[in-house]
Amino acid sequence: MARQAKNPKDTYTIMTELVLPNDTNPLNNLMGGRLMHWMDIVSAISAQKHSNRIVVTASVDNISFQNPIALGDVVTLEAKVTRAFSSSIEVHIMVMGENIPSGKKYHSNSAFFTFVAVDQSGKPIDVPELIPETEEETELFEGALRRRQLRLVLAKRMKPEEATELKSIFKLDQ
Ligand SMILES: CC(C)(COP(=O)(O)OP(=O)(O)OC[C@H]1O[C@@H](n2cnc3c(N)ncnc32)[C@H](O)[C@@H]1OP(=O)(O)O)[C@@H](O)C(=O)NCCC(=O)NCCS
Repeated sequence: MARQAKNPKDTYTIMTELVLPNDTNPLNNLMGGRLMHWMDIVSAISAQKHSNRIVVTASVDNISFQNPIALGDVVTLEAKVTRAFSSSIEVHIMVMGENIPSGKKYHSNSAFFTFVAVDQSGKPIDVPELIPETEEETELFEGALRRRQLRLVLAKRMKPEEATELKSIFKLDQ
């Protein structure tokens, strides 16, 4: 059966959480590990919407926490698939904090997670193509190829000399 291509909007997933005492460190800010757990969940749901399959987390790119999220603040996580390859799916996640009494909203961090769609025995399985629609989606789509090469080189699953997209960035051929 032909695989039905999808658009990023088909994979859009939003999750909202309230930071409770059990989620915080001694400074009363959200623990990084709790946030990464929520990021894993929201992005896995997005990857599932794309593939209609079981997905497993294959890799997590660099995450920098720009602003702490305080006890009692609201966390909004938005995820969308940026590109699909054969069995792997890259998802972009954006995390915002919000202090409702003061009306202050702030960016916490954004990251890329990669999932692999698998069958019941855990074997990778092909996923549909992703077709970007907006300018921002197209930019993320195009950047996905070099991010994929970088993470595969770091995971020792690709030889640096095969990473053609990275070569062009670092001008390694010159
Ligand atoms: C991810 C996993 C399914 C890949 O299986 P594999 O047999 O090594 O599969 P392959 O080498 O054929 O690669 C399959 C896909 O995974 C991608 N992949 C594998 N390792 C990767 C990594 N570290 N980062 C990004 N993508 C990766 C490959 O690029 C390939 O993508 P493509 O089909 O779109 O080209 C397997 O390594 C696995 O099950 N890992 C554990 C996942 C898990 O338990 N996650 C939760 C951690 S607690």
